[in-house]
Amino acid sequence: MYQLPLSQFQSQSTPFYYYDLNLLDDTLRKVKQLIEGKPYVVHYAVKANSNPVILRQIAASGLGADLVSGGEMQVALQAGFQPQHMMFAGVGKTDQEINLGLDNDIACFNVESVPELEVINALAAARGRVARVAIRVNPDIDAHTHSYITTGTAANKFGVGIELLSQVVELAQSLPCIELIGLHFHIGSQITLMEPYRMLCERINELLDFFDSRNVHFKMIDVGGGLGVDYEHPDTCPMAPFEPFFDTFTQHLHLREGQQLHFELGRAIVAQCGSLIASVVFVKENRNKRFVILDAGMTQLVRPALYQAHHLIQNLSADADAPMVTYDVVGPVCESSDVFGHDEELPLTSRGHIFAIRSAGAYGEVMASQYNMRPLPPAVFSR
Ligand code: LLP
Repeated sequence: MYQLPLSQFQSQSTPFYYYDLNLLDDTLRKVKQLIEGKPYVVHYAVKANSNPVILRQIAASGLGADLVSGGEMQVALQAGFQPQHMMFAGVGKTDQEINLGLDNDIACFNVESVPELEVINALAAARGRVARVAIRVNPDIDAHTHSYITTGTAANKFGVGIELLSQVVELAQSLPCIELIGLHFHIGSQITLMEPYRMLCERINELLDFFDSRNVHFKMIDVGGGLGVDYEHPDTCPMAPFEPFFDTFTQHLHLREGQQLHFELGRAIVAQCGSLIASVVFVKENRNKRFVILDAGMTQLVRPALYQAHHLIQNLSADADAPMVTYDVVGPVCESSDVFGHDEELPLTSRGHIFAIRSAGAYGEVMASQYNMRPLPPAVFSR
C-alpha cells in the first residue's frame, strides 16, 4: 500500500532519507481515533525525528510535544506546537533551557531530581512565575529491551527512586513557585510486549493509592512512550500495535476522577514512514564472503552500529527473477561496526543498484553525524 517510488529515487543523488507522509498521516489518524473520548493526551517525542516537515504534520494533527532540550523546544515552536501542549523532560536541563520553558509558559517540566526541582523553583521565582512540574519516578521495571534503551530500572540515571518519592513530592508541594501536577514514568524503548506496561500500571495504581491515603492528588499521570514497531515487516505491519497498547492502560490503570493520562510516543509515530535510500558503490568478494558496499553507513543511520539493531534491507533495482545471493551489507565508514546486515539474502546485486534500509524514520536522521567529514543526509518526501 505504501510503495517506495524507485523512479523518483533514480533522479536524486543518494544517500537520503525518504518519508512517506501518507503513512505518517494514517498513523496520526489512527492514534487520534484510538484516544478519542478518553482522558488521554499524546505528546510526540520530538527526539525521534525533528525534521521540520515531519514536525509540522504532527503539530497540525493536534498532538503535543515531548521535549528534551531547548533546541527541541525551538524547533517545536517553529513547527507550530503550542507551549500549552509541551512537556520538557531530561536529566540535565540547563538554566538557559529552563528559562526558555518558563518564558514560553510550557505545560510541564518533568523533573528528575531534587536539585533540579530547587533550581526550577528559584528560576521561576526570579521571573515571577509558577512552574508546573511532574516528578519522574523510576518505577524499577525491566522492559526487557536492549540495555542501552532500558530506562526504568533502579540501576540507571533516570528519575527519582520510589523510596524517595514521598519526600520529593512533599518538597515540591512546599516550594512556592512550583505547582506539582503529576507523576511521570518511562520504562524504555522498542517495547513490543504489553506485559511491562501492565506491570507499570500496577506500580502506578499502588502509588496512587498511597498518595490518596495522604490526600495528595495528581491532575495527570504520564506513562512515557516506548511502544515498539516491527522492524522485520514494515510492509505488512506499517502500524505499531496501538490498540493493545492503549487497551492495556484502559484495562489496568485506575485513573482517578478528572485525571488525565499522558503518553509520549516517538518511534511508534515515525519509524515506519522513513527509509534510508542508498546506492551500491561496489560489490566486493573476499575469499568466502561477498560484500555490498553502500554510499550510506553508520553516519547516516547509527542504530545497527550502536544497538546491534536490524533494519530490513531491500534491493529496489534488482530484476524480479534475479538469483538470491548472501551478502554482508556495509557502509563506507572506517569502522568495523559500520555494518547494516550480516549474511543478508538479497537478489544478485550490482554497482549502482538502489537500496532501501527500512523503518528508519525514528532515531535515524536525528542521530546522523558528520564523522569522516561525510555530509548530513537530506530528506525527500512523498508529496
Ligand atoms: N519519553 C521519554 C522520557 C524518553 O526517554 C523517550 C525515549 C521517549 C519518551 C520516546 O520513546 P519512544 O516512544 O520513541 O520509544 N535512540 C534509541 C532510542 C532512545 C530512546 C530514548 N528515550 C533507538 O534508536 O532505539
